Amino acid sequence: MEDVWYKDIVKGINIVCGKGITAIIGPNGSGKTTTLRLITKSLKPDRGKVLIPDKVGSSWQNPYYTFIKSTVYEEFKEFFKDRKEIEDFLGNYGLKHLIDKYTFKLSMGQARIISILIAISWSPNALVVDEPTNGLGLKEKKMVEELLKSMKIPVIIASHDLDFVLKISDYVYVMNDGHIIAEGSALDVFYDDKFSLLEFPEPYAVIVGKRLGRRLRSIE
Ligand SMILES: Nc1ncnc2c1ncn2[C@@H]1O[C@H](COP(=O)(O)OP(=O)(O)OP(=O)(O)O)[C@@H](O)[C@H]1O
Ligand SMILES: [Mg+2]
Repeated sequence: MEDVWYKDIVKGINIVCGKGITAIIGPNGSGKTTTLRLITKSLKPDRGKVLIPDKVGSSWQNPYYTFIKSTVYEEFKEFFKDRKEIEDFLGNYGLKHLIDKYTFKLSMGQARIISILIAISWSPNALVVDEPTNGLGLKEKKMVEELLKSMKIPVIIASHDLDFVLKISDYVYVMNDGHIIAEGSALDVFYDDKFSLLEFPEPYAVIVGKRLGRRLRSIE
């Protein structure tokens, strides 16, 4: 994104998503979801350029918005040869039992994972996931972490889950009131003075670093 503006929500931002995982963090209402919608071209910027590959898969903050069919099976049908293939695919994530569920009857966490799996089944050239860990149990969160890390395409997420962001992202942008106020590796960003201005509770890694009496260089 080059100097992208949208209403009074996104105010002249520049974002580059290379290989690996890029995260956008920031307070509620700071413009993260709007930025992701500009990236998927579901919103048109008032000014500036958005350059994206031709197939961008997406999973939204409200995962139910991803669904266009009534059952899980129907959602996946067009991407697979037959029912058995879908069962095997869902089985990889321990979700085979959901195949005949109505999508509106999925729990929030189930809906989130299924919506991410639909997005990747489309074989996109880039992937956008809004709040990938919202509502997920611990096991499911680990699964989504591994799934996103295994993607061979640029992945961009928006998240409030800073420990997840630290574990998973290669590059982080901090948004506040429509501006990018800091960027860099997750740890660099967490120690940035502009990040402190947001008065977020300190991420776990920063607390641990302080206990050890030093600034952590890597999560390991
Ligand atoms: N379609 C819309 N029309 C007008 N204003 C909108 C629209 N969608 C969102 N907004 C406003 O834009 C601002 C940014 O919203 P956005 O959803 O991008 O924030 P966010 O950073 O994703 O927040 P959260 O952390 O709560 O998900 C908010 O003030 C919101 O009220
Ligand atoms: Mg949002």
